[in-house]
Amino acid sequence: MAESSQTGSHSLATGAGEPLVVCEGVVKVFGKLRVLDGLNLTIGTGETFGLVGPNGSGKTTLMRMLAGLVRPTAGGVRVLGRCLPDPAVAASIGYMTQLSALYLDLTARENLRFFCSIYGLRGQERERRINEILERVELSANADRVVATFSGGMRQRLSLACALVHRPRLALLDEPTVGVDPELRRAFWDYFAQLNGEGTTIVVSTHHLDEAARCSRLGLLRFGKLLACGTPQELLAGAGTSDMETAFLYYAARGRQEEVTA
Ligand SMILES: Nc1ncnc2c1ncn2[C@@H]1O[C@H](COP(=O)(O)OP(=O)(O)OP(=O)(O)O)[C@@H](O)[C@H]1O
Ligand SMILES: [Mg+2]
Repeated sequence: MAESSQTGSHSLATGAGEPLVVCEGVVKVFGKLRVLDGLNLTIGTGETFGLVGPNGSGKTTLMRMLAGLVRPTAGGVRVLGRCLPDPAVAASIGYMTQLSALYLDLTARENLRFFCSIYGLRGQERERRINEILERVELSANADRVVATFSGGMRQRLSLACALVHRPRLALLDEPTVGVDPELRRAFWDYFAQLNGEGTTIVVSTHHLDEAARCSRLGLLRFGKLLACGTPQELLAGAGTSDMETAFLYYAARGRQEEVTA
């Protein structure tokens, strides 16, 4: 994806020494289902934190909680030093949802304008940011086509642009590369690395272990519990392997064993 000299326009500061994201004893219950089960997690400024875990393990629920869209049943979540939900934090967060949030009957530019309006961006500044992000995701030539005519990869690029157009400090990317070809997947991750270099903290969920290996740290979720958390190297060492897939199977088996023992 195209390079840019964009730097973040960030409004909130975290308290002295406070990590960007703090989850303390977070529990989320839907009906009888305990989807998050006493989660303790901190994510520091500048990290690319990967959430990995089987279907239904709670990754999207945690993302939605960090975006301020889901309240914990118990425990607390602080982002940028503030307890969520907090409208002051919302403008510093960009959330790319797992299911597309795009309006198919609008053009790419109109979708971006809609997202800008949510974040209070208007006038020339709005148009400047839209043109800049369209260029970065290489959609400038298709900016005025309706999204219904876009391929899956183009839609993913636009979804990413909608999450980032307001230059958030924290980007929450829920399986951003689903349905994306290997070349574009590589381009997405190169772009994430660039964003990171510009000061954006990223929380990204994925089922691709090669993507997990590119994260600064990983959290392995299972039944809403954090089975393991650390750098990819730490997780490999803890599992006594050099292969990420073997490491994940090791932690999953250990989690199952602990459930049986409990
Ligand atoms: N609003 C809701 N009401 C009831 N149950 C919910 C709700 N949202 C999520 N769940 C349930 O919570 C569990 C965790 O869902 P979640 O979407 O967080 O998992 P996930 O790890 O993102 O899975 P996937 O890898 O398939 O995206 C699932 O059993 C799901 O059905
Ligand atoms: Mg999910």
